[in-house]
Amino acid sequence: MRIRPTTDKDLDVFVDTVHAAFGRFPESPVEGGGLWWSALEADRCVLALTADERPVGTAATYAFELTLPGGTLVPAAGVTAVGVLPTHRRQGVLSAMMRHQLTGLRAHGEFLSVLLASEALIYGRFGYGPATYTQRLTLRRDKAGLALPRARGAADAPPTGQDNGSVEVLRRTECGEILEEVYDRYRRAQPGALSRPHRWWALRAGRPPISPAPRYIAVHRDADGVPDGYASYSLGDGGTLTVDETITTDDAVFTALARFVLGHDLVTQVVFQHFPPQHPLRWQLADFRAGELSGDTDWLWVRLLDVPRALTARGWFTDGELVLDVEDPFLGEHGRHLLTVRDGKADCVPTDREPDLSLDVRDLGSVYLGGTAPSTLVRAGHIRAHRPGAAALADALFRGDRAPHCLHWF
Ligand SMILES: CC(C)(COP(=O)(O)OP(=O)(O)OC[C@H]1O[C@@H](n2cnc3c(N)ncnc32)[C@H](O)[C@@H]1OP(=O)(O)O)[C@@H](O)C(=O)NCCC(=O)NCCS
Repeated sequence: MRIRPTTDKDLDVFVDTVHAAFGRFPESPVEGGGLWWSALEADRCVLALTADERPVGTAATYAFELTLPGGTLVPAAGVTAVGVLPTHRRQGVLSAMMRHQLTGLRAHGEFLSVLLASEALIYGRFGYGPATYTQRLTLRRDKAGLALPRARGAADAPPTGQDNGSVEVLRRTECGEILEEVYDRYRRAQPGALSRPHRWWALRAGRPPISPAPRYIAVHRDADGVPDGYASYSLGDGGTLTVDETITTDDAVFTALARFVLGHDLVTQVVFQHFPPQHPLRWQLADFRAGELSGDTDWLWVRLLDVPRALTARGWFTDGELVLDVEDPFLGEHGRHLLTVRDGKADCVPTDREPDLSLDVRDLGSVYLGGTAPSTLVRAGHIRAHRPGAAALADALFRGDRAPHCLHWF
């Protein structure tokens, strides 16, 4: 078997092979993410070929930017289009492509890679760990009144989340550059979020609201008329209004958009897809039980390719010192690192000091964005803590300024 980069000339072979691996057709409907592959770049795609040059496997990366805790923006290779023909599975084709991809990324100076996993059993062995999570919030419209409290001790203060802006409903096709601009501002402030390169919007590659699937868009504007948030939605036959994504990091804007969709006529329930973890909206309902969370699952998986570089890139919010003993079985590597955090910045150097925590690189990927507590992985038996207090200190250190969240599909 041979692995080689795809060229512009055989990108169509790549696209056909990956569709055959998934049992789908390139003409699949826009709702399912049709045209996502039009955003592929030939020089970031690889084909696995048999000895007689038949294509049997595919893998690719997108060049994304990822927002880290503290707001640092770093390059992140977004692994996608991973497939092996049903006739050639469990013969090591994926493992060979993963090795090719990870060593190639490193050779190009990239230090982290991300993906969405079709099945959770596939990628841990290659050093990826789940790092952000997603869930749905379903609100029963008849019960979902908002009761916004006033700031404590200030009877004349405006209620929390008071909105001086406005909401306008547009069709997806009428939005021009608004969505791209609002999304770009949002993702820069949201840890765990990925860039959506201009090319994606221009090609309408991906899931709604990037794709051509029809959607209404509630665009929120601030008091000066500048768009600062949007909700992309559609209303189904049974009275369920589904919001694909609500894009804003401003809680008051989120509340205003929620009020708007809850006020929509002919609606029995509102389903927020990709509802951010630990979001305050539930606490703003007069009846806490009017909202039900479901569909809690992993979303973005993270793989670190250079531990010191990755740890020094993100922002930190508590001072402290930890010795991390990190195994990378897939790449056959091992490193012991002294992580020292002072005033929001980390230093990470090799050490031979006794470790506080021993962990696999996939577990470091899971805790890296602050969305998974190291102590949870200690309790699960993944991470070993070598002294009392080490897990609690790791929890305090790795926690970010805002729960990480990613809703980009790729
Ligand atoms: C997932 C897929 C790419 C795996 O390719 P593959 O060439 O069969 O994988 P490999 O032979 O390199 O497997 C490596 C190891 O992972 C395991 N593995 C691979 N896919 C697995 C899966 N879906 N579930 C559980 N284990 C899996 C193999 O059993 C093997 O384990 P071992 O080393 O202990 O023997 C292939 O099954 C496929 O194309 N599936 C449909 C498309 C898809 O889901 N793609 C992933 C998109 S995120």
